[in-house]
Amino acid sequence: MPPTSEKDRDSKASAKPLLAALRGQISARPPVWLMRQAGRYLPEYREIRSKSGSFLDLCYAPELATEVTLQPIRRFAMDGAILFCDILVVPHAMGQKVSFEEGKGPVLEPVRTREEIARLDAGAVVAKLSPVYKAVGMIAKALPAETALIGFAGAPWTVASYMVEGGTSRDFLALKTLAYSQAAVFEVLIDRLVEASIAHLTAQAAAGAEVLQIFDTWAGILPSDQFEKWCIGPTRRIVEALRKQAPGIPIIGFPRGVGVGYVRYAGETGVDAVGLDTSVPLDWAARNLQDKVVLQGNLDPAMLVAGGAPMREAALGIIDALAGGPFIFNLGHGVVPPTNPDNVADLLSTIRDGSRLGTVRV
Ligand code: CP3
Repeated sequence: MPPTSEKDRDSKASAKPLLAALRGQISARPPVWLMRQAGRYLPEYREIRSKSGSFLDLCYAPELATEVTLQPIRRFAMDGAILFCDILVVPHAMGQKVSFEEGKGPVLEPVRTREEIARLDAGAVVAKLSPVYKAVGMIAKALPAETALIGFAGAPWTVASYMVEGGTSRDFLALKTLAYSQAAVFEVLIDRLVEASIAHLTAQAAAGAEVLQIFDTWAGILPSDQFEKWCIGPTRRIVEALRKQAPGIPIIGFPRGVGVGYVRYAGETGVDAVGLDTSVPLDWAARNLQDKVVLQGNLDPAMLVAGGAPMREAALGIIDALAGGPFIFNLGHGVVPPTNPDNVADLLSTIRDGSRLGTVRV
């Protein structure tokens, strides 16, 4: 295939509302996709999941991963399709034991010592994750012309949190103790994750991803002086490498829970867009962030469980506050399993109606 010219890429981008927004285009009807839009709230996902073996088996089966990526697109026609995978495939591919247990979430054999960290192999990631890139290629072919394909990785700090804690944590004491008392050892782990993330994201872009999102779910647990060291710095290194290895691809960063730290994150990491978590005040975000980056967010996922007029009001309020600048509608965190899919359909039509009429429909 001949290389894509600048002009081809422009016409392709303008046909995809999500890419247009990421290039700074403003729209009264913002493009929309939802974090965790594929998953257990959809009966058709549960159906495939019940037959596919483990959750990781599903991530590594290109046909099935393609199918579950497309499920929410078929139902709701979001403007973005996010690859069905998980942030923890990276430590798995580096050689760590990872499993997902029903009702418990991820379980990892913790890595905490210099020796355990030294055994992790960032160089193995791209070969081990070849089924994931195969899925990316298959999804890219299958998507409607107006839908953009989003690839992703976890940020080093967030992935390290699961690797060191051995799973989800309440207080992150093992992680923080390692980062604070043995910074040189922890830095080796972060450096390997930077390297692995660059390789993993570059491979997704090469396979057909058109947008990349970096999930830093646990950025908000860091004190501000450590935030620069373990969140902003490593993210900036990933972004700088991607600018060279996947030029032109827009990058969204999601540093959940960092409060005023969003200003430094937007100014210093080099990302094109930031995902706002549910707590970020909209007028503050419009004033302090939107001249630097495209904004994405931030409906409370619990509003999508509640549904009805409160959900529609909240969604339209977000659009009123942020659609005066470059903006992508999303949640402030992922869709949760108890969500009724009818509420997702209602949300999408509320956003696309683009008027307050949406609030009086029953
Ligand atoms: O639809 C999508 O957004 C794409 C797929 C996706 C998943 N995980 C699928 C998944 C994405 C983008 C993720 C990212 C992810 N994974 C994050 C960052 C975003 C966030 O939610 O904060 C994190 C922290 C993880 C790690 C992870 N994976 C946890 C903590 C859990 C257990 C909690 C849960 O929801 O079950 C998972 C499992 C997981 N990842 C599931 C899905 C659909 C459920 C597994 C199942 O079906 O059995």
